[in-house]
Amino acid sequence: MSLLPAEWTALLYLAVAVCFILALKGLSSPKTARRGNLVGSAGALVAVITVFLSVKLDNIPAILIAIIVGAGIAAPIARRVQMTQMPQLVALFNGVGGGAAALVAVLELGHTDDPWVRVAVVFTMLVGAVSFSGSAVTVAKLQELITTRPLLFPGMRWVMSATLVAAIVACGFIVATGSAGWAIALLVLGLAAGLLLVLPVGGADVPIVISLLNAFTGLAVAASGIVLGNVLLVVAGTLVGASGTILTRAMASAMGRGVSGILFGAFRGGSTAGSTTQSDRPVRSTGPEDVAVLLGYAQRVVIVPGYGLAVAQGQHTVAELATALEERGIQVDFAIHPVAGRMPGHMNVLLAEANVPYESLKEMAEVNPEFKNTDVALVVGANDVVNPAAKTSPGSPIYGMPILEVGDAGQVVFLKRSMRPGFAGIENELLFDPKTTLLFGDAKDSLTKVLGAVKAL
Ligand code: TAP
Repeated sequence: MSLLPAEWTALLYLAVAVCFILALKGLSSPKTARRGNLVGSAGALVAVITVFLSVKLDNIPAILIAIIVGAGIAAPIARRVQMTQMPQLVALFNGVGGGAAALVAVLELGHTDDPWVRVAVVFTMLVGAVSFSGSAVTVAKLQELITTRPLLFPGMRWVMSATLVAAIVACGFIVATGSAGWAIALLVLGLAAGLLLVLPVGGADVPIVISLLNAFTGLAVAASGIVLGNVLLVVAGTLVGASGTILTRAMASAMGRGVSGILFGAFRGGSTAGSTTQSDRPVRSTGPEDVAVLLGYAQRVVIVPGYGLAVAQGQHTVAELATALEERGIQVDFAIHPVAGRMPGHMNVLLAEANVPYESLKEMAEVNPEFKNTDVALVVGANDVVNPAAKTSPGSPIYGMPILEVGDAGQVVFLKRSMRPGFAGIENELLFDPKTTLLFGDAKDSLTKVLGAVKAL
């Protein structure tokens, strides 16, 4: 017998759904993101407790053990993960969610004769399995366990088409007969489809595919809500599906690409990863004291943070440098590219951690016209997001991606360790521009030295 009357359950589910919506709203701004996260987590906790109190559950000890083991594995991983490895973690959790939805659907197949419920079952199984294996490939690519380049084999698109046709046939048989044998076949086909979908995607596009698979998991969870007759799962899954779809489109458009180009570009012969050869052409390298003089006697400085700043964990030092320059009366802003780093909002999160005021963070559209009036653009561990090849080289994998136009500034200083290219693996012509100087070294070390030299001016 359930402890909670049905009306209370419905009311609590409604409150949880409101929490999830408020969480999404909160996450849309750096100022409110922390609170949004807490509201969403609290909602999820209430949802779990409500299920325990309102549904007659079998095997409660087994469920509790599964929760304890799952939390025991996930919590330390989430605490320890580097900010730069966040996309892998999101992909891992997302894939596990899709896989869980698929397994729940398989078990529920034996409990229903209703063909409409079976439609929801096959949808959950197929999409959940695609999300599981696709996410596993994205983790392997981002963790560099396998190559980050597109992986293709001859006839791959035909194998992909045959797999999808076979999956649709399996769905038809399951809806008609409820056969467990076909259900196993559908799971295998779904797993194969996930692999075939993601293997041809190249490095720079992988985070976008993670977001797409996240939307898939949302839809699978929503469908599993129909299977289980649980309205909250339908609401939560739909929210994840919708927000994942919006995020996928926003990321694709920030990179100047279409979603179909990202998924099927490699089949059409368009590589999504460039060459990783390093150039041995001469560049102008400089020392920290010279950079300090350039910055310390400027009127306006724009700092462009990128993935390398996150790797070096130089956010606190760059914030200190900005403060030191402002104390000298210099106007300092941070220019934020929407895909700088490895996940949406990566730079905002990093700089918020170092208490850089939100007013100093300028988005691309706002800051680009300002570079003309900027004395020094200080590019810290960023590369692709300032690479003019995006505007000038039609064959380049980043062609069409809007960039931060740092080349318009009076002087450009790059802080990086070597002449290695960025994530997209392509050379940056701006490094060879006469107005560019490079300070080689780990970003945090270089920033510390420049900061010391600015204070000594
Ligand atoms: P990247 O183009 O990857 O450049 C990072 C730069 O940081 C490299 O030049 C690297 O050069 C340098 N670096 C790495 N570690 C460093 C360290 N410890 N100290 C100093 N420098 C260091 O980064 P970006 O400009 O931020 O561009 C992001 C890339 O990720 C784009 O290609 C984008 O399309 C892709 N991407 C991002 C997202 C989101 S949502 N953020 C989504 C999809 C794709 P060295 O190795 O020589 O030091």
